[in-house]
Parts: sequence; C-alpha cells; structure tokens
Amino acid sequence: MAEKEKSEAEAENSGETEDISYKEIFEKNRGETSSSQKKATAVDEKKAEKEVEKSKKFENVIFYSLAFFLCCTYGAYSYDKNAFETYASDFTPLAPLVTLFERIEQFSPFIEFLEDDNWATLQEEKEKEKSTPAKPKEESYQEKIFTREELKKYDGSEGSPGIYLSMLGQVFDVSKAPQFYGPEGGYGFFAGRDASRAFVTGDFDEEGLIDDVAGLSNSDYIGLDEWIGLYHKDYSYVGKLAGRYFNLDGSPTPYYRQLQEWMLGAKNDAQSVENEKKIFPPCNSEWNADTGQRVWCTKKSGGIQRSWVGVPRKLFFPGRTERCACVKDSGASLFEPNALDLTWNDGDLHNPNLKLYEACASDATSCTLSDPEVKSDDSQE
Ligand code: HEM
Repeated sequence: MAEKEKSEAEAENSGETEDISYKEIFEKNRGETSSSQKKATAVDEKKAEKEVEKSKKFENVIFYSLAFFLCCTYGAYSYDKNAFETYASDFTPLAPLVTLFERIEQFSPFIEFLEDDNWATLQEEKEKEKSTPAKPKEESYQEKIFTREELKKYDGSEGSPGIYLSMLGQVFDVSKAPQFYGPEGGYGFFAGRDASRAFVTGDFDEEGLIDDVAGLSNSDYIGLDEWIGLYHKDYSYVGKLAGRYFNLDGSPTPYYRQLQEWMLGAKNDAQSVENEKKIFPPCNSEWNADTGQRVWCTKKSGGIQRSWVGVPRKLFFPGRTERCACVKDSGASLFEPNALDLTWNDGDLHNPNLKLYEACASDATSCTLSDPEVKSDDSQE
C-alpha cells in the first residue's frame, strides 16, 4: 500500500499518468474508428464490385443473345438465300441483315465455301436429279451394250435369261410382264428385238417388226416418245442395243440424232396445232341421213373454252388438212394480236386462209352443208 501511494506520488510528480491513459484511449479510439471505416469501405467496394459484375453479366447476356440471333439468322440466310431475302422484303427490320450478310460474304475469305453451300439450292438440285427420268446417255451405273444376237436370247423362251425388248435402241427388262411379252403373251413378238416401228404402225408381220422409223407422221413420233416414256416408267432400263441407234461403244449414231430432230419437229408442230386450235377452234359436227352434215359453233366447241362463239368457216393452212373452224367475228384479231390496222374490227374473219361455206349465211353460227367433203374435227361438245 505504501508502495502504491509512492508510485502514484511519483507519477503525479512526473505528470505522466494522465497523458498515457489519454494516449491509449486515443490510440484505441483511432484504431476502432479506422477499422470501422475500413469495414465500411470494404462493404462499399463489394457493392461496387457486385454492381460491376451485374452490369457485366447484363452486357454478356445482351452480347450472347445478339450473337445467337445473328448466328441463327445467318444460318437461315445461308440455308436459303432466296427465301430469306423474300421474307426480309416483307418484314423490313430484317432488311439490313441481308445487306450485312451480303457484305460478309463479299469480304469473307470463305466466299467459295459459302457460295457452294447454299444448301437449299443444293437440296433442290438433288431433288430435281431424282425426279428427272433416266436418259440413256447419262445412266450412272455401268450399262450394257447388247448386240442383236445377244438380245435375241432374251425372248422369254425356255432357258432364256429373261425377257428384254429394245425401243429406239434402248433395252428394257420386261421380265415382270410375261403375260404381254412371254411366248404366250399377246405382244411376245416384241421380245428379244427392236421393233420400234411396229409400236406405231401396228404392223406385226416380220416385215413390219423393224427398228427403222424413218418417214412416219408427226403423231407417230409423238407416239414413240410416249412408248419410251412408258418403258422408262414401268420397267428397268438395262442398256443399249448396238446397231441403228447406238454404236458398239454406246455413243449415238447419226440416225439417233436424226430421230431427235424428227421428234423435236413433231413436238413443235403439235404445239403449233394446239396454239392454232385456240385461235381457230374446231367446229362441232354431226351427220344425219336426212339432213346431211351440220357444223356449228358454241363457246366450247372443239374443246376450247372461250368467251366468244364464232362462225363456221373452212380453214386452209399450208401443210394442214382443210377443216371447219369457228372464227371470231368481232373485235380484235386473235391471229394477229399486234396488227396495227385496227379498222377491221371483225375478229379473224378477214384472214386469207378462210372460206365461207356456200350453203351458209356469213353470220350464221350453225350451217347445214351441201358439200359432203367437208372435214371437221367430228367433235361434239
Ligand atoms: C399399234 C397397235 C398396238 C400396239 C403396238 C400395242 C402394244 C401393246 C403393248 C406393248 C402392251 C403392253 C404394255 C405394257 O407393257 O404395259 C399393250 C397392252 C395392251 N393392249 Fe395393246 N397395242 C396395240 C393395239 C391395241 C388395241 C387395238 C387394243 C384393243 C383392242 C389393245 C389392247 C391392249 C390391252 C387391253 C393391253 C393391256 C393393258 C394393261 O393391262 O395395262 N392394244 N399393248
């Protein structure tokens, strides 16, 4: 006790006691203050960090969404450019994308790759290839070239390897129809040979069962074209027959090329006949023992539906058989739609290839003819 009093007294004398305690308190307080300040700053920093993170996340979401959208739209554009451009022209907000994608493709180092990868077009082309009927020259598999002797074996007789026939030099396997082409079939004479001509002439004698088709009519060439279409559709094409149409190496002969011309000519002619029928539709026609022949026009005579009736006239076109035609008798010409002389106003009545039936009034739509030679379509609506 005495010691304590002593030291207090010493301390009082030196004036240190109070100073030390204030200092300590100050130090302590200062330490507390700075740690709470630190805490506050850390919280603020964390908050700020979180904010930054949030905004970064938001930016990322925007960025990735935009990238995803662009990828998808570019995918769609690459897949089918035409469809995309059509869609973009209807939905205008997409229009700038077309420009953007075009630019990308223009400057892209992968331009060749991109050009080859219009997948929709490629797909379409593949579909087209599938639907195009097989042509003899472009068969993808190894085709066989038959000699006449070889083909003869395929006649369906006892021990024959199958039933094949040739049409315009193209050989088909018709084994699945022995009821037609087998030895007991009604058309067995076509088996093991090329008898193209008989398909349109109906001459089934040995002299008629030949492959030469020169000098046939246009409708015969069209008939042959239809037959070959039937064989490609219903039977298997197996190769070519060396001879009139193809050489031993399978290449076409000059005769084959000539045939193509005959066929093309026939088709063009058939087309112009069709066009001519629209302008000069055939008349209806009937024959009666008492009254003779009558020809008449209606809005669908000759199978041509139209807004006008027309009047019957004899029609003479070079290279065509004379026939009865219903002729437009008012307004503009159908035959010469671009004619500058509009003063006629009588349809096609002024056409020089027409002639009035003697027994017929010029404006009659129905005529009973005295001329028994009149040829018409014999059609009746
Ligand atoms: C130029 C004259 C003719 C030729 C070249 C000819 C040729 C043929 C041929 C090759 C076939 C088999 C078709 C196939 O493989 O699918 C066939 C079938 C047939 N022909 Fe003829 N034909 C002619 C005239 C006729 C005539 C005038 C008649 C009737 C009176 C007729 C009635 C038939 C019938 C009913 C079939 C079966 C059709 C079927 O079941 O699908 N053909 N003809």
